[in-house]
Amino acid sequence: MEQANTNEEKVNHVNSELRLIAASREEMEAEARLIKSRERVQKHGEVFTPLWMVRLMLSNPPIQEKLRDVHTTFLEPAAGEGAFLTEILRQKLEHINADTQHTRGANWKYQTLWALMSIYGIELLEDNVVAARRNMCDVFIRNYAQKTGRDIMERDEELLASARTVIRANVVQGNTLTHTTSDGRPIELSEWRQSARRKRKVERVVFRYETLFDDEREGNLFDEEYVVEPPSREFNLFTDYDRNGELIAKEPPADRPRRRQYKEVDIMQVYREELC
Ligand SMILES: C[S@@+](CC[C@H](N)C(=O)[O-])C[C@H]1O[C@@H](n2cnc3c(N)ncnc32)[C@H](O)[C@@H]1O
Repeated sequence: MEQANTNEEKVNHVNSELRLIAASREEMEAEARLIKSRERVQKHGEVFTPLWMVRLMLSNPPIQEKLRDVHTTFLEPAAGEGAFLTEILRQKLEHINADTQHTRGANWKYQTLWALMSIYGIELLEDNVVAARRNMCDVFIRNYAQKTGRDIMERDEELLASARTVIRANVVQGNTLTHTTSDGRPIELSEWRQSARRKRKVERVVFRYETLFDDEREGNLFDEEYVVEPPSREFNLFTDYDRNGELIAKEPPADRPRRRQYKEVDIMQVYREELC
């Protein structure tokens, strides 16, 4: 280790040591939370993967190559609290930060949302889904602070609201064996299609998870039973989200027509969930 000379160097040195201690303490605390209860292990096979193992598995060169591509999609079918999802997001964001080193403007922001849109998770247990979404959101918020030195909640309401909308659509409750949710409905996910002509525009296309396994029957968005309920338009970015970043459900007015497809919108506007 190099000798610290000036006072400033000494302070920097101590600070970096403190950061290392804090980071390893965080990791140790996380390790202690790998099992929630013996009953959950027996019933659901719930044992979370430690961070070091997640990193080791993701360090495989072909996976690393995929992580460099912002649009390459990842799906974790037994997501737990998001051990893999969060690390995949963190590494994707790290690449984006490095590739956009000299900018923290619009292009970088768009890239961070595309990264989020490429990561999917399904989890059986509701409390894990809530935790996984919150953990994904935390990674996104921390990355914003790291890159810009600012607080996303104060500086970028739309970006944060759009990020939350994407996380809510991509990390969902469901049983990946039966392809259904806890109330017996088909698991739905959203594909985020980049417009061929306008790179900052996105079309959200909802599909059933089961169609990924069905070569013969394509998911049909226009089936009568496949109606997407429009969310209330009058929601407020702040008062309508609970502490976990979950949108507080509101009943749509009875007279509102049922619509089927999301509008193609600027990626920063996906939180509006506008339908055609
Ligand atoms: C071994 S843990 C792994 C969690 C996470 N992937 C990780 O590495 O930390 C398995 C997870 O799968 C969930 N699970 C069990 N059966 C499932 C099913 N049929 N569909 C979706 N998730 C399921 C459990 O609730 C648990 O969170």
